[in-house]
Amino acid sequence: MVSRFYVTTPIYYVNAEPHLGHAYTTIVGDALTRWHRLLGDDVLYLTGTDEHGLKIRQAADAAGLSPKEFCDSIAPKFADAWERLDIANDDFIRTTEPRHHAAVTELLQRCYDAGDIELDTYSGKYCVACEEYYTDEELLEGDNCPIHKRPVDHFEEENYFFRLSRFQDRLLDWYAAHPGAIVPEFRGNEALGLIRGGLRDFSVSRTSLDWGIRLPWDDRHVAYVWFDALTNYLSATGFGDPSVDYTERWPVDYHLIGKDIIRHHCVYWPAMLMSAGVDLPKGWAVGGWLLVDGEKMAKSTGNVVNPLDLVDTVGVDGFRYYVLAETSYGSDGDFSYDGLVARYNSDLANNLGNLASRVATVVGKSCGGIGPAPRDDSPLAAAAATAVADTSAAWDAVTPSRALEATWSLIRATNAFLEANEPWKMTPGADLDAVMGDALEALRIVTLLAWPAVPSTADAIWARLGLDGSVADRRLPGDARWGGYPGGLTVTKGDPLFPRIRS
Ligand code: MSP
Repeated sequence: MVSRFYVTTPIYYVNAEPHLGHAYTTIVGDALTRWHRLLGDDVLYLTGTDEHGLKIRQAADAAGLSPKEFCDSIAPKFADAWERLDIANDDFIRTTEPRHHAAVTELLQRCYDAGDIELDTYSGKYCVACEEYYTDEELLEGDNCPIHKRPVDHFEEENYFFRLSRFQDRLLDWYAAHPGAIVPEFRGNEALGLIRGGLRDFSVSRTSLDWGIRLPWDDRHVAYVWFDALTNYLSATGFGDPSVDYTERWPVDYHLIGKDIIRHHCVYWPAMLMSAGVDLPKGWAVGGWLLVDGEKMAKSTGNVVNPLDLVDTVGVDGFRYYVLAETSYGSDGDFSYDGLVARYNSDLANNLGNLASRVATVVGKSCGGIGPAPRDDSPLAAAAATAVADTSAAWDAVTPSRALEATWSLIRATNAFLEANEPWKMTPGADLDAVMGDALEALRIVTLLAWPAVPSTADAIWARLGLDGSVADRRLPGDARWGGYPGGLTVTKGDPLFPRIRS
């Protein structure tokens, strides 16, 4: 039976254009889902844009546009950026779409009918940039938001509240029964700490704002933007559409999120689902931030790096590889241009690029351009089997940097094997063919394993090895078994895959 695999990114606020921080999570999700595509899973990879709420309303006002016009002008920039970064998302959801409206209405009504949404008066401090209320203890000196470091607003209004305080025990019991649902573990402990610290009811509606989805039972109120936004993950499954069985796709396998939105995803969201009688997610994978000069990249901090500018220097795959390999997922990473170039030169130009070029050069010169078959008892076979097993285990644990480390260990082993045998000094014949057949086979396996991270490079190497079709049509683990390179294929050299960059 084909397994289903459903992964989501956060939906990005359209008040800012796509930046490196957004690209990071989206590339991790793309590589993870590509790995599962190779496993033969039926994948749904969802991303999209978060378009309601006060923050967007204010950005639209500042741009002199209606909120919808404003969103229509920015949302395509996200879709375009993902296309340019080779992101193979299966769906792109916008919270202004009718299907999302239907899902939010359904979820609100279910929580209301369950008695978990009630009317009350709220008075408190609110950060518009976070779209979040804060208590005095959470604020920095001078009533400044702890994330955005600028003053919060004071709000007082009649709101509907979601009775989160009732869910503390149920959430703790659920997480106890599902150990490892949040990875990495230390991020899971952060979520548990938030729950154990006590849960405050949160407001799920506004009367002072019109840019949002109206509550089905009281149209003076629009839904709070986080209640609205979280529901996108259900909207894409058809929840709220009576003609669709949303459980064909739900529950989600992984919500990929940044560490700043743990509370919403790992506390609010499961409680909302429990209230509504919807199954909880199977997993959450929480990433750290990519920092620039020690600060989170954000429009308000002015340190925004546009991913598309970097692509001009290192190419799409160079950029994808860097964000996946450089940072251990879960922890913060430091972005620097020098770091990007250093990694590109060492791992891509000197290792992968060099291996592909050496192999093709020797086959061209000494094997008449025809790749020989590998040996069954090759000294590289064990390294290849280890690389396949370790890469696979690392993707299972959602640790992309470890997955690439495991894949690159095979590249290094193959380069070392060539350096030890020096086929460029050998005379044509059976010994040379044996060395080159082994190297070609190792490179074929590397190509399969590296495809989730560097898809167009992998496809290019595949074609240069003379293999048919594209890597996407291969299936793991079977196609990564030693001995798959048949030999007798025309090997071509082509231009350097990763020309060295002078730093
Ligand atoms: N719209 C909400 C999410 C709603 S999901 C139901 C939101 N949007 S956001 O555009 O501000 O941020 C989306 C994600 O991008 C967050 O997970 C955040 O952590 C991540 N990043 C934003 N800047 C980042 C970095 N500099 N580094 C890594 N990720 C960061 O929050």
